[in-house]
Amino acid sequence: MGPRGVVVIGAGQGGLDTAAALRARGYRGRITLVGDEPVLPYQRPPLSKGFLTGDTSGADLELRPRAFFAAQDIDLVSGTRAARIDRERRTVLLETGATLPYDSLVLATGARPRTLPVPGAGSLSGVLTLRGLADAEGLRKRLTGPPRRLVVVGAGFIGLEVAATARKLGHEVTVVEAQSRALARALTPAMSSRLVAEHLGAGVRVLLGREVTALWGSAAGRVEVVELDGAERVAADLVVVGIGVLPNTELASLAELQVGDGIVVDAHLRTDDPDVYALGDCARFPSPHAGRHIRLESVQNASDQAKVVAAGICGDRVPYTAVPWFWSEQYGLRLQIAGLTAGHDETVTTGDPDGGRFSVFCFRRGRLTGVESVNRPADHGIARRLLASGTELTADEVRQPGFDLKTHARRPQERLSHA
Ligand code: FAD
Ligand code: NAI
Repeated sequence: MGPRGVVVIGAGQGGLDTAAALRARGYRGRITLVGDEPVLPYQRPPLSKGFLTGDTSGADLELRPRAFFAAQDIDLVSGTRAARIDRERRTVLLETGATLPYDSLVLATGARPRTLPVPGAGSLSGVLTLRGLADAEGLRKRLTGPPRRLVVVGAGFIGLEVAATARKLGHEVTVVEAQSRALARALTPAMSSRLVAEHLGAGVRVLLGREVTALWGSAAGRVEVVELDGAERVAADLVVVGIGVLPNTELASLAELQVGDGIVVDAHLRTDDPDVYALGDCARFPSPHAGRHIRLESVQNASDQAKVVAAGICGDRVPYTAVPWFWSEQYGLRLQIAGLTAGHDETVTTGDPDGGRFSVFCFRRGRLTGVESVNRPADHGIARRLLASGTELTADEVRQPGFDLKTHARRPQERLSHA
């Protein structure tokens, strides 16, 4: 531990968890957490769910109360951007002109929404993206008013969760997706179709394989029309754009760290400068589960990576190997994903998809790589354990009539206890 301590840039999920994990490990040096948002660190998941309906309040979102930072001696610098890193002097320059020296630097800068590259998208009012609390407050205000015609661009996590929430609040909702299926990045075709069916059943119009070519507005500059494929026009008084994110890598690039769709790190989440770590949405890391460098955008990833970074700073070099997991909530469906399902070559579905309780087991070259579950939390929990322990499970076993994951997972233990 040096006299300069640790500076963490980005006071979101990963940044906050790094500071907390350092203290939990007994790190006694100085910790400064710099965040450009003018609020206490908060959780983003409710921003597209309960926060929009009013079920979750702003205070419920806070990851830790203000008193935590004083009690843990964490210097939280909110509402302030870090402008530059000087790796030679090992300092961070804040936009206020202040300079923070560091022994170890952690980049937890997250990601920002991609904007729609079509005429009208940048200039008309009523065209929103959703990333932070301020965005969510703006959207909530519009959604808690009278019914609107909402067009959601992108059937990813943001798009589908906002569509479900808006529909619940009584708005007329159209979702426009460029690809031929929803959530293609994260879900199997079976799960995509099931989710889309739920949206259709709730009265959402879902347009797949369609391109937004322009947005048109009133003389006062308010959005009124979404133009599709240069032809069809959909009336709208609110447009939410959820077409993916870009990692915030500019500080790392300026500091000449290796960058390429994310700040490139090793298995210990170190950049090519051993004093600088990166984690969460902004980091591109070697994943033993994917067998290559990937970037993940999830709370689990940011939180678990924070523990690995804190360990590294404390001199305990552990690699990041945690099994990825994700979740989403749309209508009454609680979707949970254990592992990585992209790249599967075989799937087996168990349970009752029409009844809204089922799991999709995904295999690649005969190995289980992930399980998507809807309203089957036990399957999700067990799948995470199986994936973490590397326990074998074949597609043929899952296909057996009466297959039950709980019973399967108990088997090795039973064998041991009978031995
Ligand atoms: P962030 O939480 O984005 O934090 C980065 C912080 O750094 C931000 O506050 C940013 O403003 C700040 N920053 C950036 N540059 C600078 C700078 N130069 N100086 C100072 N500060 C800077 N994940 C799930 O697993 N499940 C969900 O249900 C889920 N729902 C979501 C719903 C919404 C609406 C959104 C937007 C995301 C959701 N996610 C969900 C994703 C999850 O929130 C992110 O993966 C997670 O927050 C990543 O944490 P992070 O610390 O890497 O980045
Ligand atoms: P996403 O990557 O999940 O989905 C983007 C979708 O937009 C894709 O389906 C893509 O094909 C589509 N798209 C791209 N360009 C388009 C275009 N021009 N026109 C129409 N469709 C287009 O990203 P999303 O939904 O924006 O989410 C942003 C971030 O928030 C991600 O990091 C995501 O993981 C996170 N998030 C996670 C949630 C969860 O885990 N439950 C919930 C909400 C957000």
